[in-house]
Amino acid sequence: MSLSKSILLVVLVVASVVNAKVYTKCEFAQEMKKHGVTSHADLGTWTCIASHESAFNTKAVNSVSGDYGILQINHYYWCSTTSTPGKGCNITCASLLTDDITVDIKCALHIFSETAKGSTKNGFTAWVTYKKYCTGDQSSWISGCSL
Ligand SMILES: *[C@@H]1O[C@H](CO)[C@@H](O)[C@H](O)[C@H]1NC(C)=O
Repeated sequence: MSLSKSILLVVLVVASVVNAKVYTKCEFAQEMKKHGVTSHADLGTWTCIASHESAFNTKAVNSVSGDYGILQINHYYWCSTTSTPGKGCNITCASLLTDDITVDIKCALHIFSETAKGSTKNGFTAWVTYKKYCTGDQSSWISGCSL
Protein backbone atom coordinates (compact mmCIF):
# COMPACT_ATOMS: atom_id res chain seq x y z
CA MET A 1 0.00 0.00 0.00
CA SER A 2 1.32 3.45 -0.86
CA LEU A 3 1.94 5.98 1.86
CA SER A 4 -0.86 8.26 0.67
CA LYS A 5 -3.31 5.33 0.64
CA SER A 6 -2.40 4.27 4.15
CA ILE A 7 -2.78 7.84 5.37
CA LEU A 8 -6.22 8.00 3.75
CA LEU A 9 -7.18 4.74 5.46
CA VAL A 10 -6.12 6.07 8.86
CA VAL A 11 -8.15 9.24 8.29
CA LEU A 12 -11.24 7.21 7.36
CA VAL A 13 -10.98 4.92 10.40
CA VAL A 14 -10.58 7.90 12.72
CA ALA A 15 -13.53 9.65 11.05
CA SER A 16 -15.85 6.72 11.71
CA VAL A 17 -14.84 6.69 15.38
CA VAL A 18 -15.40 10.43 15.69
CA ASN A 19 -18.83 9.97 14.11
CA ALA A 20 -20.03 7.62 16.83
CA LYS A 21 -21.49 9.14 19.95
CA VAL A 22 -19.55 8.01 22.98
CA TYR A 23 -21.44 8.50 26.23
CA THR A 24 -19.79 9.45 29.50
CA LYS A 25 -20.37 7.15 32.49
CA CYS A 26 -22.77 9.67 34.00
CA GLU A 27 -24.69 10.32 30.76
CA PHE A 28 -25.19 6.59 30.36
CA ALA A 29 -26.37 6.13 33.96
CA GLN A 30 -28.74 9.09 33.55
CA GLU A 31 -30.27 7.48 30.45
CA MET A 32 -30.77 4.19 32.31
CA LYS A 33 -32.45 6.07 35.14
CA LYS A 34 -34.71 7.90 32.67
CA HIS A 35 -35.91 4.49 31.51
CA GLY A 36 -36.87 3.29 34.95
CA VAL A 37 -33.73 1.94 36.64
CA THR A 38 -33.77 3.73 39.97
CA SER A 39 -31.60 1.49 42.17
CA HIS A 40 -28.11 2.95 42.46
CA ALA A 41 -26.65 -0.53 42.82
CA ASP A 42 -28.22 -1.53 39.49
CA LEU A 43 -27.16 1.73 37.82
CA GLY A 44 -23.56 1.02 38.85
CA THR A 45 -23.76 -2.52 37.49
CA TRP A 46 -25.28 -1.44 34.15
CA THR A 47 -22.62 1.25 33.78
CA CYS A 48 -19.87 -1.29 34.47
CA ILE A 49 -21.35 -3.64 31.87
CA ALA A 50 -21.63 -0.93 29.19
CA SER A 51 -18.06 0.16 29.86
CA HIS A 52 -16.70 -3.35 29.35
CA GLU A 53 -19.02 -4.20 26.45
CA SER A 54 -18.56 -1.12 24.26
CA ALA A 55 -16.59 1.56 26.14
CA PHE A 56 -19.91 3.49 25.82
CA ASN A 57 -19.56 3.66 22.03
CA THR A 58 -23.01 3.67 20.40
CA LYS A 59 -21.66 2.26 17.14
CA ALA A 60 -19.77 -0.69 18.63
CA VAL A 61 -20.25 -3.89 16.62
CA ASN A 62 -18.63 -7.26 17.29
CA SER A 63 -18.96 -8.88 13.90
CA VAL A 64 -17.69 -12.23 15.22
CA SER A 65 -20.31 -12.71 17.95
CA GLY A 66 -22.90 -10.47 16.25
CA ASP A 67 -23.32 -8.01 19.11
CA TYR A 68 -24.59 -4.47 18.53
CA GLY A 69 -24.42 -1.12 20.26
CA ILE A 70 -23.56 0.32 23.65
CA LEU A 71 -24.84 -2.80 25.47
CA GLN A 72 -23.71 -5.28 22.77
CA ILE A 73 -27.07 -6.90 22.17
CA ASN A 74 -26.92 -10.14 20.20
CA HIS A 75 -28.67 -10.67 16.88
CA TYR A 76 -29.20 -14.38 17.45
CA TYR A 77 -32.06 -13.85 19.90
CA TRP A 78 -32.86 -10.16 20.12
CA CYS A 79 -32.65 -8.15 16.90
CA SER A 80 -33.01 -8.58 13.17
CA THR A 81 -30.07 -8.04 10.81
CA THR A 82 -32.54 -7.39 7.95
CA SER A 83 -34.36 -4.08 7.47
CA THR A 84 -37.52 -5.57 9.01
CA PRO A 85 -37.74 -5.37 12.82
CA GLY A 86 -37.82 -8.74 14.51
CA LYS A 87 -36.65 -11.35 17.05
CA GLY A 88 -37.05 -10.92 20.83
CA CYS A 89 -36.98 -7.13 20.97
CA ASN A 90 -38.78 -6.67 17.62
CA ILE A 91 -36.15 -4.25 16.35
CA THR A 92 -33.47 -4.05 13.70
CA CYS A 93 -29.90 -4.46 14.88
CA ALA A 94 -29.08 -1.22 13.03
CA SER A 95 -31.44 0.66 15.35
CA LEU A 96 -29.08 -0.26 18.19
CA LEU A 97 -26.30 1.85 16.65
CA THR A 98 -27.87 5.30 16.69
CA ASP A 99 -26.82 8.14 19.02
CA ASP A 100 -30.12 7.80 20.89
CA ILE A 101 -29.78 4.73 23.11
CA THR A 102 -33.48 4.43 23.99
CA VAL A 103 -33.92 1.32 21.83
CA ASP A 104 -30.80 -0.29 23.34
CA ILE A 105 -31.98 0.33 26.90
CA LYS A 106 -35.53 -0.88 26.31
CA CYS A 107 -34.23 -4.07 24.70
CA ALA A 108 -31.66 -4.59 27.47
CA LEU A 109 -34.36 -4.25 30.13
CA HIS A 110 -36.51 -6.73 28.20
CA ILE A 111 -33.59 -9.19 28.12
CA PHE A 112 -32.93 -8.57 31.81
CA SER A 113 -36.46 -9.37 32.89
CA GLU A 114 -37.11 -12.24 30.50
CA THR A 115 -37.44 -15.61 32.12
CA ALA A 116 -35.20 -18.11 30.43
CA LYS A 117 -35.74 -21.88 30.46
CA GLY A 118 -35.89 -23.17 34.04
CA SER A 119 -37.86 -20.11 35.20
CA THR A 120 -35.01 -17.96 36.45
CA LYS A 121 -34.76 -14.40 35.24
CA ASN A 122 -31.82 -13.69 32.93
CA GLY A 123 -30.88 -10.63 34.93
CA PHE A 124 -27.35 -9.33 34.41
CA THR A 125 -26.03 -12.80 33.62
CA ALA A 126 -27.23 -12.32 30.03
CA TRP A 127 -24.03 -10.25 29.63
CA VAL A 128 -20.80 -12.26 29.88
CA THR A 129 -18.92 -9.18 31.08
CA TYR A 130 -21.14 -9.13 34.19
CA LYS A 131 -19.66 -12.26 35.79
CA LYS A 132 -16.23 -11.38 34.53
CA TYR A 133 -15.97 -7.78 35.73
CA CYS A 134 -19.15 -6.40 37.27
CA THR A 135 -20.33 -8.48 40.24
CA GLY A 136 -20.33 -6.95 43.72
CA ASP A 137 -20.35 -3.27 44.56
CA GLN A 138 -20.04 -1.21 41.37
CA SER A 139 -21.02 2.12 42.86
CA SER A 140 -17.70 3.71 41.94
CA TRP A 141 -18.88 3.79 38.29
CA ILE A 142 -21.53 6.35 39.13
CA SER A 143 -19.83 8.28 41.91
CA GLY A 144 -20.04 11.99 41.21
CA CYS A 145 -22.96 11.57 38.80
CA SER A 146 -26.13 13.51 39.52
CA LEU A 147 -28.70 10.75 39.66
C1 LIG B 1 -43.03 -5.31 15.68
O1 LIG B 1 -42.95 -3.92 15.45
C2 LIG B 1 -43.69 -3.47 14.36
C3 LIG B 1 -43.45 -1.97 14.21
O2 LIG B 1 -42.08 -1.71 14.11
C4 LIG B 1 -45.16 -3.78 14.58
O3 LIG B 1 -45.90 -3.37 13.44
C5 LIG B 1 -45.35 -5.27 14.82
O4 LIG B 1 -46.69 -5.53 15.16
C6 LIG B 1 -44.46 -5.73 15.95
N1 LIG B 1 -44.53 -7.18 16.08
C7 LIG B 1 -44.64 -7.79 17.24
C8 LIG B 1 -44.64 -9.27 17.22
O5 LIG B 1 -44.73 -7.18 18.30
